[in-house]
Amino acid sequence: MNKITVSAPGKLMLFGEHAVVYNRPCLVTAVDQRMRATVETLGTLEFQLEAGEVKVTGYKKPLSDLGKGDIPKGAKFVEIAAKNIAEKHPLKSGLRITTSSEFSSEFGFGSSSASTVCVVKALSELLDLQLNNKEIFDLSYKTVLDIQGKGSGFDVAVAVYGGTLYFITGGKVIEPLNIKSLPLIVGYSGVKADTVTLVNKVKESFVNRENRLEEIYDEIAKLVEKARDALIEMDWEKLGELMNENQNYLSELGVSIDKLDNMIKASLTAGAYGAKLSGAGGGDCMIAVSSRDKNQAVADSIRQAGGEVININTNADGVKIEK
Ligand code: MEV
Repeated sequence: MNKITVSAPGKLMLFGEHAVVYNRPCLVTAVDQRMRATVETLGTLEFQLEAGEVKVTGYKKPLSDLGKGDIPKGAKFVEIAAKNIAEKHPLKSGLRITTSSEFSSEFGFGSSSASTVCVVKALSELLDLQLNNKEIFDLSYKTVLDIQGKGSGFDVAVAVYGGTLYFITGGKVIEPLNIKSLPLIVGYSGVKADTVTLVNKVKESFVNRENRLEEIYDEIAKLVEKARDALIEMDWEKLGELMNENQNYLSELGVSIDKLDNMIKASLTAGAYGAKLSGAGGGDCMIAVSSRDKNQAVADSIRQAGGEVININTNADGVKIEK
């Protein structure tokens, strides 16, 4: 075999963002919009990358320079993933990697993590390394930390395992939840957010108030436990209430923005059980849950508040080889 295509799902954080960076749990679901990577071996000892969705075209360098020099932003995760594999399992031939995505990298669906996972899985297959899911998670999470220095790894985990996960920082716990459906309404704010900037912002704005920050994270952790039960029981009304409580804490952390607040308020006015931002905040998406008969009204009100409604299904498959 000298060519393989794999895909991995995007994600939506359900509960526990920010707290999960600091040893608390979160809940995350895989969405059915996927990232794809085709990896082929080359006759030359070159590393080549085509990633049109992040404006990387015709990128190439000698294999021996993998991970060295100035790496364009859009190439970083793929290249460092390949480097991390090559350090453990020296490459005997060059590589050509082509990535493509069904979703915009602006949504905050975790395109960087999903492409990292795709590359690690594809190389595991191509080089016959037979890495299991935990090994794919560990190598991919290392790649994310090498680049960002921060992050809980929840997005990497859900790209590998898929489904809906209960997750604790760094993969200390990665527990698939056996749930059948999760009727989410998703609204994109049109504002691109940067996770590391927001994680740092929270830390800085609570300097001298660290006790309150710890309290908030503990309260969010309690909500995650309750939300896990509500999810399993498919109690959408309870889940909505918990979303509202989680959103209050995210506002206190200072990561919500007016646009997200307006979209959240609009969905509640239209009858949603609950709504919250999803992810780091500062932009990206919000999620809402409502009774089936109100879904349309909630979606319309999100649009009226200036949001873009994104149709997704949750609980999607984890990383897999494409036919
Ligand atoms: C970002 O989508 C979620 C954060 O909790 C960061 C992380 O968990 O890596 C803010």
